[in-house]
Amino acid sequence: MPELVEVSQLSFRYQDSRRWILKDLNLNVKSEEILLLAGSSGCGKSTLLRSINGLIPHMYSGEYKGAVTVAGSLVKDTQMNVLAQKVGLLFQNPENQIFMFSVERDIAFGLENLGVPEPEIRKRVDDAMMLLGISQLAKRAPHELSDGQKQRVALAGVIAMQPKLIILDEPTSLLDPKTASELVALVDRLRRETGITFVVVEHRLDLLTKIADRIAVMSEGSIVLDGSPSAVLSDERVQGYGINVPAITKLQQSLKRDGLQLSSRILSPKELAEELNLNA
Ligand SMILES: Nc1ncnc2c1ncn2[C@@H]1O[C@H](COP(=O)(O)OP(=O)(O)OP(=O)(O)O)[C@@H](O)[C@H]1O
Ligand SMILES: [Mg+2]
Repeated sequence: MPELVEVSQLSFRYQDSRRWILKDLNLNVKSEEILLLAGSSGCGKSTLLRSINGLIPHMYSGEYKGAVTVAGSLVKDTQMNVLAQKVGLLFQNPENQIFMFSVERDIAFGLENLGVPEPEIRKRVDDAMMLLGISQLAKRAPHELSDGQKQRVALAGVIAMQPKLIILDEPTSLLDPKTASELVALVDRLRRETGITFVVVEHRLDLLTKIADRIAVMSEGSIVLDGSPSAVLSDERVQGYGINVPAITKLQQSLKRDGLQLSSRILSPKELAEELNLNA
């Protein structure tokens, strides 16, 4: 599959910071891939995401070296309103992304800003609500909704822009475990049904390893590990980078080291139990 995002030798430091936050960073993301970006707090994950969606260098000033291209456009030479149609960003807190009087007006907001014709807006908003299962919320006031519903409204606003790539920065951190796993299942379904590519920063690896095709681990402004979830999580260095390997994955790995024939895919607790039963 073609590369959708190419980050090449990217270095960045914020205006008032003496430290380089990103250092000669290289990363590619393929079309229709779900990439999980992991790394300890402060290593530069959100800074990298901002560099992919164009907030850096268009909104945050600083010193910038290297190149980022998204769907063939060089981010630093492309206007934000053009980038907004290629890359959508879902903030950690949906409160920062919803503000209007009704759910449907909120979802339409980005399209109105772009001057998309009204009938086209109507259609895209309806399609996005249908896709996310929130059509019945159309007339509701966003601030009356649950956290999980707010997140879907914010995501519908992003989807309505028909981006090729959606970036999620810690999307489950404000959600309870059930709503969090529903969101993860939704991302998986959206990728399958729409072919949208996802880059997700998330500390809850147990949720994301199930749907991620790849994990890239960041440390001090660079990508230090990059590979399939099972390859990255079984790498001895991973814990040194502050990554919490899910307990179930550790168990699976230690059973394999003991000589048990197990799938090399990362298994959920239920799947592991099934494999063990078959192997018994
Ligand atoms: N607007 C800014 N101006 C100056 N420094 C910043 C700015 N935003 C972030 N930084 C600094 O850049 C470094 C990386 O921050 P960033 O938010 O990218 O980390 P992160 O990996 O997303 O962390 P977390 O997991 O806690 O969200 C930190 O030292 C932070 O203080
Ligand atoms: Mg962050």
